[in-house]
Amino acid sequence: MKSFIIFVIGLILLLNSCNSFKQGERIYLSKCSNCHGVNAEGLAQMYPALDKSIYVNSLVNHLPCVILNGKYTLDKNGNKTSEMPPVANIGDVELTNLINYLQYKFNPSQTPAQLDTIVAWRLKCK
Ligand code: HEC
Repeated sequence: MKSFIIFVIGLILLLNSCNSFKQGERIYLSKCSNCHGVNAEGLAQMYPALDKSIYVNSLVNHLPCVILNGKYTLDKNGNKTSEMPPVANIGDVELTNLINYLQYKFNPSQTPAQLDTIVAWRLKCK
């Protein structure tokens, strides 16, 4: 009986996490895939692939700010050579699911980030 209950709880948790990855995937497809590609493969020199991105693989705590503030690169004369516009219109739960989706896809050994962790990281964005 006890192991059955544990099995059911495990199943519910598993289904729940699948749901968040699904929601994260939907958000990715609607807000990111236009530029980064459906499988985050990027586009030549214009849009970076995300599978090897340092923000997906190790600096995940900076990922909320990259998403919310956008990101640019300057050449030595101070001119922008590439730019990602901010994706600011995104709630905390959506942001958490999006980040966990990217982690799940490219860095599955990571434990999914909790909502309050993402909120704390988000508050640190300038
Ligand atoms: C309008 C096109 C566009 C959209 C939409 C977009 N990005 Fe970007 N993204 C870029 C460009 C261009 C860069 C490169 C910016 C730079 O560093 O110069 C970039 C950079 C990044 C980086 C940093 C990659 C690295 O390792 O330097 C991450 C992570 C990222 N984007 C994630 C996302 C996510 C997640 C979304 C959806 C919420 C998104 N982007 C939406 C164009 C876009």
